[in-house]
Amino acid sequence: MRIFVITGAGISAESGLGTFRKNDGTGIWARFDPMKLATPEAFARDPAEVHAFYNARRRNLIAAEPNMAHFALAQLETILAGRGGQLTLVTQNIDDLHERAGSQRVSHMHGELLKARCTACEGVISWREDLGLHDRCSACGRQGTLRPHVVWFGEMPLQIDAICAALNDVDLFVAIGTSGSVYPAAGLVSEARAQGIRTCEINLEPSDNADRFDESRYGLASKEVPAWADEVLRGET
Ligand code: APR
Repeated sequence: MRIFVITGAGISAESGLGTFRKNDGTGIWARFDPMKLATPEAFARDPAEVHAFYNARRRNLIAAEPNMAHFALAQLETILAGRGGQLTLVTQNIDDLHERAGSQRVSHMHGELLKARCTACEGVISWREDLGLHDRCSACGRQGTLRPHVVWFGEMPLQIDAICAALNDVDLFVAIGTSGSVYPAAGLVSEARAQGIRTCEINLEPSDNADRFDESRYGLASKEVPAWADEVLRGET
């Protein structure tokens, strides 16, 4: 079986990492203004404020641990590969919890928080400490040119052509823990449907494009994803 999975912030919620949009108004973008913190214009205007926001998120990430949903996907990847199948794992998340759970191939379409990118030489380097204007790019030596290696609003996601190409020839498309409100990620389900691929949503509640899915499973990712993966491996879904 060949499965394409896209994950969002909901899969990391039970690991203590905030989600962006919550009905109770406590989501990250209800508490912080994305136009002041997550755009290239905001970074040009006040890089110190943007660094402070991502430094706090980086510290939270380093203290977090993967949960059962991350582990279930890593195990599914290994077992499907052993059976001649494949799991393509794409994430909108900038955390490394999929990798820490053992996933081997993860496409981060919105970047990675534990990396920095140089705005001068475009070099991408691993970065686990707080990042600031005094830091120097180890690739080109310039100071003050490093930014978090994340995709901001108004910027193109990473690897989008390869991600769309990976949709070809899969048997099942699954979206996990995403509100389906941010494009182009939210449009992938329609691409999959257009190719006649069966689609499934696993989420706490119906997403913005819930009607695009053939099957829906609502509940906590740490419970629903392992149950779903077991059914896949038993050939029951
Ligand atoms: N288990 C399953 N689903 C959950 C859980 C959980 N424990 N907790 C929350 N969810 C669901 C919510 O119901 C919501 O539909 O996860 C979804 C999270 O939605 P968002 O907060 O909008 O996150 P996401 O879809 O990943 O956002 C997309 O927007 O802000 C940008 O770049 C950022 O990558 C992000 C993109």
